[in-house]
This record gives sequence, C-alpha cells and structure tokens, in this order.
Amino acid sequence: MNNLITIERHFLEQQMQHPGASGSLTAVLNDVAFASKLVRREVVRAGLVDILGMAGTTNVQGEEVKKLDLFANERIINAIGQHGRFAIMGSEENEETIIPPKSETGKYVLLFDPLDGSSNIDVNVSVGTIFSIYRITGDSPEDASLQDCLQKGLKQVAAGYVIYGSSVMMVYTTGNGVHGFTYDPTIGEFLLSHENITIPERGKYYSMNEGSWHQFNQTTKNYIDYIKEEDKATGRPYSTRYIGSLVADFHRNLLTGGIFIYPATKKHANGKLRLMYEANPLAFICEQAGGKASDGKQRILDIDPAELHQRTPLYIGSKEDVTVAEKFEQGLR
Ligand code: AHG
Ligand code: MN
Ligand code: MN
Ligand code: MN
Repeated sequence: MNNLITIERHFLEQQMQHPGASGSLTAVLNDVAFASKLVRREVVRAGLVDILGMAGTTNVQGEEVKKLDLFANERIINAIGQHGRFAIMGSEENEETIIPPKSETGKYVLLFDPLDGSSNIDVNVSVGTIFSIYRITGDSPEDASLQDCLQKGLKQVAAGYVIYGSSVMMVYTTGNGVHGFTYDPTIGEFLLSHENITIPERGKYYSMNEGSWHQFNQTTKNYIDYIKEEDKATGRPYSTRYIGSLVADFHRNLLTGGIFIYPATKKHANGKLRLMYEANPLAFICEQAGGKASDGKQRILDIDPAELHQRTPLYIGSKEDVTVAEKFEQGLR
C-alpha cells in the first residue's frame, strides 16, 4: 500500500506550495470534506433509515424534492455554516442565498448541489454532491450579497464533487491539477487514490438523454448522427453511457474520456443543468484535467451569471469531442 495521504494532508501540501497562503482555503476545504462524510453516512444506508422517497415539497427548480436532497442540504449548511469561513452560500435547494451564522470572519462563497442525481436515490444508483468556492468580491464578509455568488466560473478558487458510488470518492481542484480521494470507512478518511487526473483528448463514450430527441435542435441531431456513424479513424460510433446523475456520468468520462451533453431542448430552452453549482465547478475540474466545457458557443467559465439558479446547455469532457460538438452546434459542420 503506497504511503497513505489523507485529503486533509493533501490540502495542506497544496497550501504549502503557495508561500504566504493564510490557510483559510485549506480550512474551507476541510469543512467541505467533513460535511461530505456526514452526507455519505446517510447515503450509503439510505435504505435502512427513513430517508428515501419524496419530501412532499417542490423546490425552486420545480422539482419534487427527495428527503435525501433536504437531508444533504441541511447537513452541509450546518456543518459548514457554523465555522464562520463563508460569508454567503447558494444551494440548488434554496431559492435565496444563505447567510450563515458567525459569518463575520468568512471571506468565501460556497455554491453547491447537495445531492446530484436525486432521481437515482431510491434505486441505489450513484449520486453525488457538487461544490464551487469563490472569494467574496469585497473586503468585509458582512457586505456579502447575491452579487458575490454571481461571479464568472473562471474566478473559482476551488471546486469539487463527491460521488457516492461503488466506492465513495472526492475529486477536487484548486487550480493545480485534479486529485481524487477514495473514502476508507475503516478509518473514516479520504485517501489519495487518483493523483493528477487527466482526461483523454478524445473518448469513446457519449452521455446524453436521447429520449429528448424530438426536442433537440437540428444542429444537435446532426452531431448525434455524426457520433453514430462508422469511422475507424475517429473511433466512431461511440458507445452510449448515461446514468442520469451528472456527477457519475462526468466522473466516468473524466477517467475514461468521452463527452457529456445536456443541450437546449424545447422543454429547457437553456438546457436543464444549473450554471453556478453544476456546470461551473465541473468545468473548472474538466479544464484542469485537460478537457473542455462549453455551452455550445462559449466556454462555460466565461459565462457572466445573471441569476443564482440560471441554467445552461452543457457540453463537457474530452477536448477534441467538445470541439467537434461545438462546430456542429454552431452549424459549421
Ligand atoms: P439534481 O438531482 O441535482 O436535480 O440533478 C439532476 C440532473 C443531473 O444529475 C442529471 O445529469 C440530469 O439531471 C438528468 O436529467 P434527465 O433526467 O432529464 O436526463
Ligand atoms: Mn434537483
Ligand atoms: Mn444536480
Ligand atoms: Mn441536486
């Protein structure tokens, strides 16, 4: 067994590469890792405690909320909010921003999807948690406002996700590469298992919900037809892999190569996925791993946000695949 590096030690080593760093981002990342352990504890035994099924409410997204959505949301807000490191938070499950107690010392902004892939919870298919971290735009945490949550994705200081799958992994970046940690329940630690993850230039999988075919624009249909043609030189046709949990689909493609697409549809003219706590954090990770993330026309990280829950079409994964998909979406192929 190679030397065991816990995620806390890795955060510290990353910090030590920045002389003069205050260590507050390290503390923030430790808080996020801790909160994800609390969520994991319930997710992995969801069938045994009364935490499956619907909560009986509808969220700002217009989705029926699952009990585990709310559990994860409340755990993360409480586990993180009370440590006074964040001035303000934004969650998929909260219409408005959240100002944690003791926010006077917090210079960070947290945007998160507490539980991604909710439709898969009751059927024991992988789900995840996604987080995105910024610094506040001003100096004083008390002045933090919605504007601090609406910064371009390229301003993120850290991003990551936890995937509750056959094993539980946490993957994060602070802009110095992408690193993956596997949870060891016997010691309650995330241990370094995937250092410096890089995504292959081109993949062999495409991930999308083709059930929406009749809602797609013609440019999208042209790309899907292209990806299914026989062409040995470009490894086509690609294989379909679609789990219905963005984190799980993204994580597989990050490791094996491939493209995940949630395009504009008639039902979701701007796509279904949310910019601030799904597309931006995964785009930061993807680019750090050598991949690409686009809305079909522009880099996800360059999008100037207008609303906390705004949606965006998302083409994310292997650089060559996203580039080809963009050409189709722009009518250039
Ligand atoms: P969430 O559970 O956080 O609301 O996200 C669900 C998202 C994403 O995880 C997944 O890729 C997508 O919804 C699946 O959408 P379809 O069911 O329309 O394919
Ligand atoms: Mn949801
Ligand atoms: Mn989600
Ligand atoms: Mn969610």
